[in-house]
Amino acid sequence: MIKKACITGAITLFTICSFGQNDNTLNENRSNVFSTAVQQYNTLLDSANVQMKYPRSSKNGYLTYVTIEEWTGGFWPGALWYVYEFTQDPKWKDAATKWTESLESNQFNTKHHDIGFMMYNSYGNAYRLTKNEKYKAILVQSAKSLCKRYNDKVGAIKSWNDKPSLDGKDTMRYPVIIDNMMNLELLFFASKITGDMTYKNIAIKHAEKTMQNHLRPDFSSYHVINYDTITGKALQKETNQGFAHNSTWTRGQAWGVYGFTMTYRETGDKRFLNTAIKMADFFINNKNLSSDKIPNWDFNVNQVGYNPPVTAQAINLTYIPKDASAAAILASALLELSNYAGNKGAKYKDIANQILISLSSKDYLATPGTNNGFVLMHCTGNANRLSEVDKPIMYGDYYFLEALLREKVSK
Ligand code: GLY
Repeated sequence: MIKKACITGAITLFTICSFGQNDNTLNENRSNVFSTAVQQYNTLLDSANVQMKYPRSSKNGYLTYVTIEEWTGGFWPGALWYVYEFTQDPKWKDAATKWTESLESNQFNTKHHDIGFMMYNSYGNAYRLTKNEKYKAILVQSAKSLCKRYNDKVGAIKSWNDKPSLDGKDTMRYPVIIDNMMNLELLFFASKITGDMTYKNIAIKHAEKTMQNHLRPDFSSYHVINYDTITGKALQKETNQGFAHNSTWTRGQAWGVYGFTMTYRETGDKRFLNTAIKMADFFINNKNLSSDKIPNWDFNVNQVGYNPPVTAQAINLTYIPKDASAAAILASALLELSNYAGNKGAKYKDIANQILISLSSKDYLATPGTNNGFVLMHCTGNANRLSEVDKPIMYGDYYFLEALLREKVSK
């Protein structure tokens, strides 16, 4: 018998229904992954509670943590919320609440653009699952802080502060990265709950500017655009975490698919849908995407015509690592996009399912008791700094669990 499958949106409520033949496999995979997550996070939670820091990755066999300042703090409580959502075990609600609330002071953080990642993945999930009113004000203040980095002349939110480019030629004074599309969800949320359209309007301006400058004609993406704050023009189009300025860093491409899909959901503007579809097609039809659908960290590593910037160290790697986090982000994005993409929807859902099946296999899913307490193996953080290469990374886990929940089969 073919069962009816429904996907429930992880943070924003939306429902997708379709008929699938892989339901049993996906159900089994989902149960197995969440059972792995429970076993792994029991250990991770004990360690994090001792350190009072946010688990991030591993180095030389040891678990690494970050402080409240770092961009990845919100993924840890976010993943705990997903485990709670699946298990309904109050232990995970308590843990998720504690770690969410530990981030409270970040509502005033204006040091970088990642406040969306930090606060929406933690407090956004907390509000979605508990409806605790006190979280609303914290999310709105977080959105206000993010807007402080918006410059109307540029029409985009500044991602990083001054940053030297990897080829040593320039210091970028107004760098905006493709990842920044992810922070817009916080702004859309703030407008919905306050009725103040300022946040949403900034998000739309940012998405338009990203569409204008981050995308190449084939809908692959640049990682970093540096803007002139007087003219608003793009000064440089570069990479920071990709192989070369003209290459496609796969996690960046996945951030774009996710970000433009979400922006379409929040605006109904078909330009954003078209962008999400074209970026997704570039990814899934790429001749360099491996048959298990888990990409290398960049699509163009070591290829003719792609020259790494002088300070990039990825050239020293003796093999081409994959990035399972890029696959997890893409799977989650495709599951939402499949709902909006007309006759392309079935294909996107099928590819997302293939990714989830790969990630749920022993090739990528940790055996409980290994992998320093994380769920996914083989993510790559920043190959150009030889940092977190082929390692577990907290955001890989987060988007993997999110995607599995989006695929949840209704009874
Ligand atoms: N936002 C930084 C990264 O994706 O590594």
